[in-house]
Amino acid sequence: MIQSSLYLMVLLIAWITIFSLTSSVSGLGSFTHNEMNPFETKPRIWKYLTYFDGTVVLRIINRNPNITSLDNEAWIRPVLSLRIIHPNGTVSEIDKDLEIPEFNWHITISPDGYLLDPVNIYALQKGFLLFRYFNASNPDDINTYEEWGRIIDWNGNLYDNVYFSKANIENGTWYPTKTSIVNNVNPEKGFIKIYWRVDYVEWQQYTIDDAFNFIKLSYGNLSYLENTTAFNVMGTVDDGYSIIMGISTSSDNDEDPLETSAAVYVLTKGYDDKQFGAPKLLYQSNLANITISNIFSGISSTGIGQVCTLNITQNTVTSSRNYYVKLNFLSSGSVTEIIPIPLSYLPVLPSNSTTRWLVASIPYGGYVFYGRFPDANNNTNVYVYYFDEYENKFTAWDSREPSVLNLRGIFIILPNNTMLISQMEDFNMWSFLTTDIPKLTNLDNNYSNLQINSTSPSINDNISTLTNNITITYYEPVELSDGNISIYQIDNSGNNIIRQFVNGIKSSDFCSISDDGLTVTVKLIKSTFSNPNSKFYVKIGSNFARSRAYKESLMGVYDVWKFNTNPIEEPLAGKVSGVLRLTIEGTEYFENLNSTGKNQFFANLHLELSKIIPINIKRLSSNGKTQVDTTVSPSRQIFISLNIEPSNEGRSVASIIDNLNEMIKYKSITSIGLNPITKYLDENFGFTPKQDLWDEYKCRFLGVLLILAILLVLFLIAEKMQRKGRNIAILHLGLIIFDFVLDVLFVSKNGKVIELLYIPSHENKSKDFLYWFSQNEKLASVFTVLSSADIEALSILHSNIAGLKCFQAPISTKGKNRIFWASCLTVFVEDIPQLIIQLIYYYNVITYDIIPLLALVSSCLSLLINIIGKLFQAINSCRPGTLEYDGQDDFQKLQTPTTERSSASDESISHSIDIKEENEKNSDKNNLTGSSKSSFQEVIL
Ligand SMILES: *[C@@H]1O[C@H](CO)[C@@H](O)[C@H](O)[C@H]1NC(C)=O
Ligand SMILES: *[C@@H]1O[C@H](CO)[C@@H](O)[C@H](O)[C@H]1NC(C)=O
Ligand SMILES: *[C@@H]1O[C@H](CO)[C@@H](O)[C@H](O)[C@H]1NC(C)=O
Ligand SMILES: *[C@@H]1O[C@H](CO)[C@@H](O)[C@H](O)[C@H]1NC(C)=O
Ligand SMILES: *[C@@H]1O[C@H](CO)[C@@H](O)[C@H](O)[C@H]1NC(C)=O
Repeated sequence: MIQSSLYLMVLLIAWITIFSLTSSVSGLGSFTHNEMNPFETKPRIWKYLTYFDGTVVLRIINRNPNITSLDNEAWIRPVLSLRIIHPNGTVSEIDKDLEIPEFNWHITISPDGYLLDPVNIYALQKGFLLFRYFNASNPDDINTYEEWGRIIDWNGNLYDNVYFSKANIENGTWYPTKTSIVNNVNPEKGFIKIYWRVDYVEWQQYTIDDAFNFIKLSYGNLSYLENTTAFNVMGTVDDGYSIIMGISTSSDNDEDPLETSAAVYVLTKGYDDKQFGAPKLLYQSNLANITISNIFSGISSTGIGQVCTLNITQNTVTSSRNYYVKLNFLSSGSVTEIIPIPLSYLPVLPSNSTTRWLVASIPYGGYVFYGRFPDANNNTNVYVYYFDEYENKFTAWDSREPSVLNLRGIFIILPNNTMLISQMEDFNMWSFLTTDIPKLTNLDNNYSNLQINSTSPSINDNISTLTNNITITYYEPVELSDGNISIYQIDNSGNNIIRQFVNGIKSSDFCSISDDGLTVTVKLIKSTFSNPNSKFYVKIGSNFARSRAYKESLMGVYDVWKFNTNPIEEPLAGKVSGVLRLTIEGTEYFENLNSTGKNQFFANLHLELSKIIPINIKRLSSNGKTQVDTTVSPSRQIFISLNIEPSNEGRSVASIIDNLNEMIKYKSITSIGLNPITKYLDENFGFTPKQDLWDEYKCRFLGVLLILAILLVLFLIAEKMQRKGRNIAILHLGLIIFDFVLDVLFVSKNGKVIELLYIPSHENKSKDFLYWFSQNEKLASVFTVLSSADIEALSILHSNIAGLKCFQAPISTKGKNRIFWASCLTVFVEDIPQLIIQLIYYYNVITYDIIPLLALVSSCLSLLINIIGKLFQAINSCRPGTLEYDGQDDFQKLQTPTTERSSASDESISHSIDIKEENEKNSDKNNLTGSSKSSFQEVIL
């Protein structure tokens, strides 16, 4: 009894111990996905891609149940099945019918044992991938096969298609897999495609533009180095590419111990170079009978530059041995380190293993050595060991050694050092075990870049919208280089909006580096973080900074340096209208558009601005008018208007204006300079709200008011002195002078701004008139000004202001009649047209000034006073005996009969004035004036 309970206890303890050991030591998790659309055959995880943000894209294949496959082939379901594992663990399924020839869905094995799959996938920048397939004019003739590529996004949308090359055919066998596509270290900079043909290497470098079209940047052929036995291609830290070739000679000349028997060369190409450079020696050995049998390469995760691991095989008569050596080299081709890797810890791979030890690098330091072999049940077994380069030793992984994986033996290392270990698939289900690879470095951060010590703001920080710089602190001294650092905002729909970008060298005003070389500070313009309660991230380009010691570019930071701005309360402002100016090129571009083009121009401008600011596009509008800026002549630049409506949601109008102005002023470092229409906005002008005329012209308004007050005082004094005088004329006089002065200013300053004032419509441009006008501009202006002097002024002379003698001009009844009628006439030939001109001006300009506004006001006032005055006189004339009439005692002898009084309210006539008026009326000069004026006004209306 006691014994059995003891036995139970031991069992229990053992069970607990084992359980806690397996769960805490191994730390294996699992990840299972059940396919949403059940299918008749098992899904197989066939290929995977990883992205900087931790997203994994799997390609799943299913055997096609409708076609019988033979032993060495597989017909698969004719769809591209992608499974996107998002960093949050959700999976989206894409099964895309690509409408490509059927032979693409046929996987075979070549006579020499290569797996041949026509369809393949390659990672591009986040959200996109490339799939490769073949087209053929005759599917039965492999000589007509052509290799194509197409972009597809994570939602299954298809983009540009590109023809790569003719299919690779060797000795009558089609080798769809003898090509490599290698991404640039900055995935947004495209990729290089390499064909490893029998006699030469064919390469093509592509980039992908903003509309997701392929652009072929350069291409060429290279010959293999003599006796090449291994090759590899990689993207280098400087955004370029390298081809590495290993050569091995079979000579075993024991006479000369220094004779080279194997060597490794690198050929490098900068991003913009049109050719690869000459081969540079990375490594050589004089060990007899050796072959460079494999080359693994990548960016060094813990050091500077690139790293490449060579697999060297030595064949002696009795056996063959494998050696591994790791080289660090710079993109210039200089080798900085050579370390032999001791394999003694690793088990001997079974003789049936399909590979030798393969090498992959681990993001947080070290390398994975792995080898695959089939077991008795034809399952794929894998040995996986981590190599710690600091300790120079191997450690086993958490899983069993060897482990059974899925048929392809897939395991995936994520950027955060998590490993996904594939498991055998089942019907409609696939799964992974997950484990965290130990961090084999004492450097630790979350930037996926071990050169970086810290940043400000840090990851997931909350910062003020007023933050005006960011800093990056490195572990080793750096200097700035020709790469960009870019700050993006992530909007509500997940789009990335570039807020500011700064080049390490070119934007030297914005970047500075501390004396110890460790900290880089990037100055920000105030618009960059101005959006409150928003998500931001910073992307450091791979060539923004480089090592001070080695002059080698440092890797960038993508998709991890994310943080937020704090929410703030912004006061709500009313609708604001503002003015933008186009650059000289922009003006030329705009003016060459037809009217639909111009409408489209505004529509596109609003669309681009709504994305850049960002703001709901409904809040943006424009009156579609343009105005020439006269201050920048002789260069021609036009103003356009932009109205921003207030809204409860989103940002206040005031801060939007401020930001937009800032972004336009710094358009070379903001997205304003990157968009097709906004790039035409003039950075020297920015975005200027229409002036608050009161603020701007406070003094002048006060001046005008003062003058009016003085006139009013004079009027009151006059009233006191002579109540019977028509003292109101003082105000009238003031107004006339005011109107006159403003008209002069209006014509001289603002008349030229609106071409519409001269030319009725663009289509109807009168060349002759334009010529006449350009020759006689001054004359025409002077006549307009003269015509605006008021005939009515004359009546002031007999208004008897304050009873002063000089305002008691004895104007004859006939003269008064003439003044009256002439002043009536001026209402029609001058005041009304003038008002109309000013209204046209007002409705066509974008920026208006104080003078036209006051001119408009004074025109309205004088027209009003004129009309009221005329009406008053007309009413007066119907009533016998007016006050004024009674006041004209001295001139009663000249009094006209009441019937005639309708012509004028005043009785006196000055002979001289009468004559003057006659002269004016009859003189040729006056007629000329009148005709010039009317023709001028005819034209401008
Ligand atoms: C197989 O054939 C059946 C019947 O014709 C069809 O419904 C099914 O879609 C086919 N499956 C594939 C993978 O083509
Ligand atoms: C996970 O992320 C994807 C892509 O970002 C998103 O569409 C999905 O809604 C997220 N799922 C959850 C549960 O958060
Ligand atoms: C082509 O095939 C022939 C016969 O099978 C073989 O002798 C020859 O080496 C092959 N050539 C190449 C380049 O594979
Ligand atoms: C290539 O190999 C052959 C024979 O193994 C040898 O004679 C020749 O010198 C080698 N060429 C080079 C460039 O090493
Ligand atoms: C190299 O190989 C040749 C023939 O395969 C053999 O005769 C010679 O002994 C080998 N040399 C060494 C150092 O193993």
